[in-house]
Amino acid sequence: MATGLKWRLAAAPTAGSTRIETGLRPAGSGHREASRPCSSVHTGTLCGEATTNIVTMYRSDTSGGTDGRLVNTGGAMRSIDYDTEQHQDYARGRALTQQQLQVWISAFAEVLPERRPLVGLDVGSGTGRFTPALAGAFGPVTGVEPSVRMREIAQTQPQHPGVRYLAGTAEDMPVPSDSADYALMFLSWHHVQDKVRAAQELTRVLRPGGRLLLRANFSDHHPRPWWLGHFPRGYEVDASLFQPLHEVIEMFTSIGWRVASFGTVTEPSSGTCGDMLERLRLRTLSFFAQLSPDDLEVGFRRLEQAVAADPDAPSPVFAEPLLTLELR
Ligand SMILES: C[S@@+](CC[C@H](N)C(=O)[O-])C[C@H]1O[C@@H](n2cnc3c(N)ncnc32)[C@H](O)[C@@H]1O
Repeated sequence: MATGLKWRLAAAPTAGSTRIETGLRPAGSGHREASRPCSSVHTGTLCGEATTNIVTMYRSDTSGGTDGRLVNTGGAMRSIDYDTEQHQDYARGRALTQQQLQVWISAFAEVLPERRPLVGLDVGSGTGRFTPALAGAFGPVTGVEPSVRMREIAQTQPQHPGVRYLAGTAEDMPVPSDSADYALMFLSWHHVQDKVRAAQELTRVLRPGGRLLLRANFSDHHPRPWWLGHFPRGYEVDASLFQPLHEVIEMFTSIGWRVASFGTVTEPSSGTCGDMLERLRLRTLSFFAQLSPDDLEVGFRRLEQAVAADPDAPSPVFAEPLLTLELR
């Protein structure tokens, strides 16, 4: 287990920072911050009780229904078919700089065992933004991805001999039981339709002690990118795509997992506000698919006006949640 930043309580995140904490606020106490202009840096706060309290804290509020059976709950997202939308522009719209990629790999290293190699799964690997870098840092990785188009694009990216991409979903992975040391789900959990089945499938494929790295948003611990507030009801619409944190935790802890850590990762800035606006125009975020044409028009108009005031200002950074669960 990496110990460098383990349980370190840091100050408000700065670009390229990792903040892994032992605690959470109870659901409903998620931070709320006002929309900020493009030129201000957004910081996040997540703090509270010790990890050992997390399960206790959330046990009373289960997603298991009255008879104890797990049920699917969660955000109200219009499902996205990446074979018909987003795939053309995803790699460009969501490109990471090498520096940003390295910050994520370092954050993953903090919450993974120290031994190498580790056998990894990149579940919902998309265009392979992370898959080769995971292989380089930790060991062989299987990218599991349902979209043919996204997988095809992944195959056109620089390859790593330790990477293979397979058709599959979080609910049904074409890999043997007890075969992986970790699974990364980077912004793919909210796309999973049958979360109960996915949690059971992750339980099957990971070895005991295996870790699930969920880079997910949560309706009550939701990041606040600077541009989101320019869209009508932007924060509310975006937050509604995601489950509350306690719901995700309860789903996994009720079938034998424990919370290993919860924290935030703050990527270095990806460029100027003007650059970010151009990327947002590609609409490779599920958020945009939830908006009406009118709200899209209003939002982009407001955003253009805000950016026009200082297009060369660095795009502000913000803290992104990372929940790590361990299979007992
Ligand atoms: C926002 S993209 C994230 C892709 C990649 N993880 C990244 O960070 O670039 C979401 C991905 O999840 C995939 N996805 C959708 N439903 C899924 C499911 N049930 N199981 C696994 N992945 C799924 C989509 O096809 C898409 O490639």
